[in-house]
Amino acid sequence: MQQRVLTGITTTGTLHLGNYVGALRPAIEASRERGVESFFFMADYHALIKCDDPARIERSRLQIAATWLAAGLDTERVVFYRQSDIPEIPELCWLLTCVTSKGQMNRAHAYKGAVDANTAAGEEPDAGVTMGLYCYPILMAADILMFNAHRVPVGKDQIQHIEMARDVATRFNHLFGAGEAFFVLPEAQVDETMELLPGLDGRKMSKSYDNVIPLFEGGEKALREAIARIVTDSKLPGEPKDPDSAHLVTIFDAFATAEERAAFRAELRAGLAWGEAKTRLFEQINRQIGPMRARYDALMAHPEEIEAILQKGAERARALARPLLDRLRHAVGLRRFQPLAASAAPVAKAKTALPVFKQYREADGQFYFKLSAHDGRVLLQSQGFAGGREAGEWVKRLKLEGAAALAGAPVSLGEDVQAEEVGLALAALQQAEV
Ligand code: TRP
Repeated sequence: MQQRVLTGITTTGTLHLGNYVGALRPAIEASRERGVESFFFMADYHALIKCDDPARIERSRLQIAATWLAAGLDTERVVFYRQSDIPEIPELCWLLTCVTSKGQMNRAHAYKGAVDANTAAGEEPDAGVTMGLYCYPILMAADILMFNAHRVPVGKDQIQHIEMARDVATRFNHLFGAGEAFFVLPEAQVDETMELLPGLDGRKMSKSYDNVIPLFEGGEKALREAIARIVTDSKLPGEPKDPDSAHLVTIFDAFATAEERAAFRAELRAGLAWGEAKTRLFEQINRQIGPMRARYDALMAHPEEIEAILQKGAERARALARPLLDRLRHAVGLRRFQPLAASAAPVAKAKTALPVFKQYREADGQFYFKLSAHDGRVLLQSQGFAGGREAGEWVKRLKLEGAAALAGAPVSLGEDVQAEEVGLALAALQQAEV
């Protein structure tokens, strides 16, 4: 089966070298593999959550689109689009919003981070929090589920969002699927090396640390100037350098073959001056991105070409999104009018036997709980707790948050039980609670 890979970039700024090495380059390489169908998009609705400057939004989405293309994206192979060109996405977002529990959104990192910062500053917990920020993960779930992506390459900070997408997909499938799964359950794909490109000061390259090397913006000059500011030790020309403790070398590595890496190291050990090393680094990087920068500049001078490419991309994306959304609308009851008798008579919802949580105390004095299926099979078994309260709190959380709470829960799966079944059981309980 074709593997669908999907990822988006929020369009609030320009991309730096770390974004290129960590996200763009591997995504483009992976999109050339056989058996992979890639969906890459500009998350411009997400951008509106963080930015209320229209000029910046306009500039950033154009720049990021041009960057993808200049970096070698083949838009014949890849479905490449702007999120805001796909009206089916916000429509799906609403359907998902209606089955997402508020309690789960309370725990989303971005929202919790804002609340913690407010609390620390002595402000109202929700000061400055928009509903956009609060519901951010649901829009992201819609992005992913709309195209039934199997894999979602993201940074570590986004893993929770993918788990939430899985969870809401499970709930929706359970509620409306009548045995059929509308949505694939997506997996986060976190590349360990992905976030590792160091910035000027040796910490992870990130706008928030103000230590980035620009990718295309500012041209060759800006690249050269940024490289000149990379922090090194103060060894003098001629003194042997330790390549393995220099983040300059790590940046070099990201653009070099194995032989080039070895040669660079040997030269540093032999006393190559840092100034000279920076010139080598500039040349090494520029050899790879220089031709891309020329394409970038040409594209930026012809936005209408990018516009045409994205219009085509939107058409292809919508050809997939529309039929799925039509099925979903039908499933939730948003149907063409017809005599009611002709549609399935409203059957009383079969009272399906629900799984149950049981809490108990063992001879060892510890408190436990387990989740059993309606047929008595043990689906989940907890570890022992010193107090009954702690056990009870986990039960409460699992009931409220469903599969999303599983990752950190002190439980193990029952014999021959798949995580999938537990997810469905928890979704059934969650639904029964509402
Ligand atoms: N939230 C992601 C980020 O800030 C961007 C994004 C939006 C995304 N929708 C997505 C990533 C769907 C992957 C899949 O990095």
